[in-house]
Amino acid sequence: MHFSRPILAIESSCDETAVAILDSNAELLVNLVASQSELHARFGGVVPEMASRNHLSTIDPLFHQALEQATMKPTDLGAVVATAGPGLAPALLVGASYAKGVALGLGIPYLAVNHLEGHLLSPFFLKKEIPEHLSLLVSGGHTQLTKVMKAGCYEVLGRTHDDAAGEAFDKVGKLLGLSYPGGVEIDRLAKQGDPKRYSFPRALLEKGNLDFSFSGLKTSVRYFLEKRNATLSSSELPDLCASFQEAVVAVLVEKTERAAKQEGLTCIALSGGVAANSRLQSGLGELCEKHHWKLHFPPPALIGDNAAMIAFAGLQSLLMGERTLVTQEIVPQWQL
Ligand code: KG4
Ligand code: ZN
Repeated sequence: MHFSRPILAIESSCDETAVAILDSNAELLVNLVASQSELHARFGGVVPEMASRNHLSTIDPLFHQALEQATMKPTDLGAVVATAGPGLAPALLVGASYAKGVALGLGIPYLAVNHLEGHLLSPFFLKKEIPEHLSLLVSGGHTQLTKVMKAGCYEVLGRTHDDAAGEAFDKVGKLLGLSYPGGVEIDRLAKQGDPKRYSFPRALLEKGNLDFSFSGLKTSVRYFLEKRNATLSSSELPDLCASFQEAVVAVLVEKTERAAKQEGLTCIALSGGVAANSRLQSGLGELCEKHHWKLHFPPPALIGDNAAMIAFAGLQSLLMGERTLVTQEIVPQWQL
């Protein structure tokens, strides 16, 4: 699996500016991520306009840092790939426009990459083959189950009707006054908590349903806190985090099991930022052990938003001969 010359990849769909370079043997030479998350933390979520301005001031120095680290000149590059959606329009515009500028200036191909495809293929990063499998993609913006026949050949089996799993973690984190992003803090606090202390709703569990809904769960945490006047004792906070997390993970694991059985798939891959969640990892681990299914995770550095996964997904498409016209616009609502 190799392209004739090194590939530059750029990611700027949310609050991470990222640049990666894959060399012609598809080895990862550089993987730089400049996170703005501290900047957005005081607003309790990502402010699109601020993200855009920050990408603009970060992208050029990051590109030059990447070249320096790879001991390369711009003219060594053979193609430029960039996330063109889904994501925040003002943020996507910066990375995709910069990538087009580099490609045009060097006279090399440009390719628009779907951010979801980047996450989805990340568990197979630099592996020789991508087997037929069931993908559970759980991030801040998406929650979906996809049957993957091979790279580029996907059938979405279920997705969320409202909040994504990561969004639910972050909104509940905000209700609890935890620092942003809430998912990381809830995971940490839940480790000392009792997941059975409080019972929260598990939505859409009726037979045959492979979709998700997490907004009712978030609302039920809000009602719980309102009844308590938002005061929790020091032991209640970890128990609440563990009980909420258990409700999210139980649904994700249950639907993954259903989808795999329905499609006769015995290989599962977990991806997206929420793939970092320790309880989700152990829950899927137990499920796969029970059925003797294979379970794939992305390398730890490729779980959150990064450009290496965009490079890898881009490589698959470049090898299939795909190219994107530089006149093609970003696609903020791009579905897989
Ligand atoms: O994939 P990602 O980096 O960005 C998007 O494409 O959305 O995912 C970010 C999401 C955030 O909602 C964050 O709270 C969540 O991933 N997250 C976690 C954990 N680490 C990150 N959620 C639960 N447990 C974690 N350990
Ligand atoms: Zn992402």
